Amino acid sequence: MTVKVAVLASGRGSNFKALIDAVESGDCDARILVLITNNPDAPAITVAKQAGIPVEIVQRMDFPDRGSMDDRIKVILDKHGVELVVLAGYMLLIKGKKLLDAYKMRIINIHPALLPSFPGVDAQKQAFDYGARISGLTIHFVDENLDAGPIIYQEAVDISGCKSAGEVSKKIIEREHAAYPMIVDSFSKGHYAVDGRHVRFAPKPRS
Ligand code: GAR
Repeated sequence: MTVKVAVLASGRGSNFKALIDAVESGDCDARILVLITNNPDAPAITVAKQAGIPVEIVQRMDFPDRGSMDDRIKVILDKHGVELVVLAGYMLLIKGKKLLDAYKMRIINIHPALLPSFPGVDAQKQAFDYGARISGLTIHFVDENLDAGPIIYQEAVDISGCKSAGEVSKKIIEREHAAYPMIVDSFSKGHYAVDGRHVRFAPKPRS
């Protein structure tokens, strides 16, 4: 079952691009229906345009509160019949209860550290500054908390030889680009693992 995906991104969009490439090469059985961004200057918009993917800009300043901003995102997801929401460098918390409820266990995020270590921004710098020798990446379901929610996949990356936070970022992002499409593909196969337990993923009934 080809999984119908929306990507939410705020910045560069290299994970978004890796997902597009994996779909095009047949390694990831997904259809990317829309990019939603809160940042009208995000380079991810160019990535979407080059791939012919529609872009929706949903900016905080256009809404009285975060709840109504997320309601708008839900309307876009519903309109496209999205089954899986993939956060790829989306730097806002999802706060809307309607969105979180309607897409429970259907919103995933990638974070460049082994959660619960180093949540929030600049996770790679946090790990480097702390002197961690092993860091990595986490793919998890999204709830209302920061970089929390059930863990789907983690991968350790040896950063002991890194001389800067930039080097840490470079080592981790390479693995992010391989891991995220692989996990999105597992949803297309109708199954994924949470905390090592097998879970079935079913098509989303239209609301
Ligand atoms: C990625 O490293 C992703 O893991 C991170 O933002 C970067 C986005 O890069 N996300 C977080 O830190 C979420 N807390 P990209 O725009 O090139 O994909």
